Amino acid sequence: MRVLLSFCLAFWLVLMMFPDSWARVQGPCVDCHTMHNSQNGSAVVTNGPFRALTRGDCVGCHTGTNTGSNNIPYILSDTEPTYGDVGISGNTLAGGNFYWVADSGGNDDTKGHNVVYLAAQDANIGYTPPGWDNANFTANGAVAGGEASWSKQLTCAGKYGCHGTHTDEDDFRSISGAHHADDSTIDGSTVGKSFRFLYGIIGIEDSDWEYQPTATAHNQYYAIDRADGMNDNPANADPKSINYLCAECHGKFHSGVGDTEGADDEGSTVGSPWIRHPSDFDMNNVKTKEYGAYPGPFGTGNAYWPGAPVGANDLTAGVRSQVLQADGDAIVLCISCHRAHGSPNADLLRWDYNQCQASSGNAGNCGCYACHTSKY
Ligand code: HEC
Ligand code: HEC
Ligand code: HEC
Ligand code: HEC
Ligand code: HEC
Repeated sequence: MRVLLSFCLAFWLVLMMFPDSWARVQGPCVDCHTMHNSQNGSAVVTNGPFRALTRGDCVGCHTGTNTGSNNIPYILSDTEPTYGDVGISGNTLAGGNFYWVADSGGNDDTKGHNVVYLAAQDANIGYTPPGWDNANFTANGAVAGGEASWSKQLTCAGKYGCHGTHTDEDDFRSISGAHHADDSTIDGSTVGKSFRFLYGIIGIEDSDWEYQPTATAHNQYYAIDRADGMNDNPANADPKSINYLCAECHGKFHSGVGDTEGADDEGSTVGSPWIRHPSDFDMNNVKTKEYGAYPGPFGTGNAYWPGAPVGANDLTAGVRSQVLQADGDAIVLCISCHRAHGSPNADLLRWDYNQCQASSGNAGNCGCYACHTSKY
């Protein structure tokens, strides 16, 4: 027993000495790269060669079925992934999955972000994101170069994308070096040191990208409380928060809390009654109301419920397994309700909104009840 313990301790010490070796890519160069894309005169990978001499484009490498032990996050599956009620019990990851929106899969424009390599232009929306605010939320670089309406389709990374920097249209250039970067410190200073290569954003990364997350094993998202003197002015939003990421393309949905929508009164009031669902708002402010009983029918003792995640304004306290314990630990996020990549539900929602019935007494798969605990 003692031998085993000291072996474990030694192993742990080695890991502590090289903590970054967990998150950087590992293994033979040949697994991921081909120098000329030619072997015996034939192509090594069809459709190649690819940028950075890789054996696939972003989607190609990231297509597969998650098992919980794969060391690459799969964001698209060839066959329909298992999702469960709210996407925490199947084989999808934190971002959900593009399967349902992809032309190769469900081919339903409403169920995911129509990223250029996977799906044609969204037939309902077109190229420009709903709620696009081209003048604000540009601290991490202006997406789409700030053009008033988008001339190009959404990409994984780059000028028209979510990951990487937004200066360059080429998505490989915008994340160059990130896969090999030491990301033991996530401070948003480079793409590799940003939460999930989302340039400028911070957070604590779950080691298996939230494969079947629990109250203790999950991403810890960073957000701020707009009641902390942040009010509703976009200039006061925190560029490092996960909500800011969404606001880079959907800014009006982050800020519209004034009496009516419009430049003049946006920023005037913050609080109930709201005109758009709040995000960057801490439930500790309203814990005497129904919110104090989070996660309602989905848990007890204010356990963190990864089905409707909440963010925190202080990452030094680590991954929270219980919330509503201290100010700033239960902040509403865009992704409290949405999945970033896609889901089996309309509007990339985590659960089926149409199943949400007031006073039904049946939690079913309606995550709204996690916070609106008295509407259940
Ligand atoms: C050659 C295969 C390959 C290609 C091409 C590739 N990736 Fe990856 N990617 C990986 C592997 C392996 C990992 C897991 C290791 C890691 O986290 O760095 C990963 C991880 C990631 C992560 C998660 C990082 C984290 O913090 O956990 C993101 C985001 C990502 N890739 C985005 C992209 C984007 C965007 C592109 C295209 C510009 C791309 N990848 C191209 C293999 C690839
Ligand atoms: C598990 C997959 C994986 C393995 C193994 C891997 N790479 Fe990469 N590498 C990538 C991906 C993906 C990119 C492109 C995206 C990026 O730059 O983040 C990349 C980019 C690069 C780049 C350009 C960016 C930079 O960091 O300068 C170089 C050079 C590179 N790899 C060299 C190597 C060498 C040499 C090896 C073997 C010792 C190796 N890679 C092994 C996935 C891998
Ligand atoms: C780089 C820009 C960009 C970012 C960042 C971004 N989106 Fe989007 N989003 C778009 C575009 C473009 C569309 C419209 C086309 C489409 O559906 O893909 C869209 C559409 C949507 C839709 C409607 C989908 C539909 O078909 O009805 C939702 C919901 C959404 N985004 C939520 C989010 C959330 C939540 C985040 C943050 C995790 C986010 N977006 C981040 C660009 C972005
Ligand atoms: C992560 C927690 C959370 C989730 C999930 C959530 N809400 Fe909310 N919601 C809040 C908070 C906090 C407020 C603001 C309450 C306040 O200011 O008193 C709010 C406000 C609202 C309001 C406006 C109330 C007012 O006083 O103006 C409505 C309506 C609403 N939510 C509906 C929904 C619906 C429908 C869903 C599911 C699609 C949902 N919410 C999911 C936390 C949440
Ligand atoms: C309380 C749950 C909830 C939160 C939090 C939330 N959304 Fe939504 N979102 C929805 C629902 C439900 C819809 C469906 C349309 C509607 O009800 O207005 C939607 C629709 C959307 C759409 C599609 C609009 C269209 O025209 O098709 C976008 C884009 C979007 N949300 C982005 C965001 C962003 C960005 C944030 C954070 C700033 C956010 N959402 C926060 C529940 C939420």
